[in-house]
Amino acid sequence: MNEIMIKNTAQLLVEKKPWIVLTGAGISTESGIPDFRSPRTGLWEKLDPMEILSVRTLQEDPHTFYRIGLSVLLRFRDAEPNDAHRVLARWEHEGLVEGIITQNIDDLHRQAGSQKVLEIHGHLRTFLCLRCGSDTPTEEVAEKVKSQIPPVCKCGGVLRPRVILFGDMLPPVFQQAEELSHQHPLLVIGSSLQVSPANYLPSQAPTIGIINREPTPFDEKAAFVIHGGAVEILTALNTAFKELGRKQ
Ligand code: APR
Repeated sequence: MNEIMIKNTAQLLVEKKPWIVLTGAGISTESGIPDFRSPRTGLWEKLDPMEILSVRTLQEDPHTFYRIGLSVLLRFRDAEPNDAHRVLARWEHEGLVEGIITQNIDDLHRQAGSQKVLEIHGHLRTFLCLRCGSDTPTEEVAEKVKSQIPPVCKCGGVLRPRVILFGDMLPPVFQQAEELSHQHPLLVIGSSLQVSPANYLPSQAPTIGIINREPTPFDEKAAFVIHGGAVEILTALNTAFKELGRKQ
């Protein structure tokens, strides 16, 4: 990785702070969670997300949804935050990051200590009852599904994940994410930026920076692009900040 590029990027991040960070599945691959579109290892090379994790399958084919879909969603529940998540939590504490908009449902930013996390694709912590609106912890639902499909709430209503499924309306938190990405520079980490409406956000931001293994459709628009692993790059940037801090 190019030392000069890291130093210049660190300087730019400090000059334009605070940043909003938009993360995708790529920031969690070093926690053992495969992303969706990396060639060969991407989850969606083997499964069709539009098919399985969709409102239509939830309603018309609950067995497929709760047997296959849920097993995909729950497979990485014990993943741990990695150093990229931890660096971002530290940068929020130090005022470099205003907040995180994440497409991930793995909860790793909050577990790493980030406070302001907008989960625009929902989360996997609880399931929603479609009748009374109450929340049931996911662990309880995973038990229920062993003998009851679809799983139901104490009131008898069907329980569905709070993950945003294909065919769902956007969650209200997306509105907040949109406002934030108008007001602050946006740092994209670990996203192919191929899924809307998340990929609408970089088109709204005054300035964008990209840290990603592969090129994205927004690379030309970005003030900087660093292709490589999130942990290595964020760790190097964090070291460069400390150097800058010492010099100021
Ligand atoms: N460091 C940096 N970038 C990485 C790393 C890593 N360790 N690992 C993978 N990447 C990059 C890949 O090169 C890829 O461009 O992260 C990107 C991940 O892109 P996707 O797999 O498309 O994931 P994402 O952009 O989050 O997908 C958005 O698609 O299926 C839906 O709802 C799902 O939230 C998901 C949405």
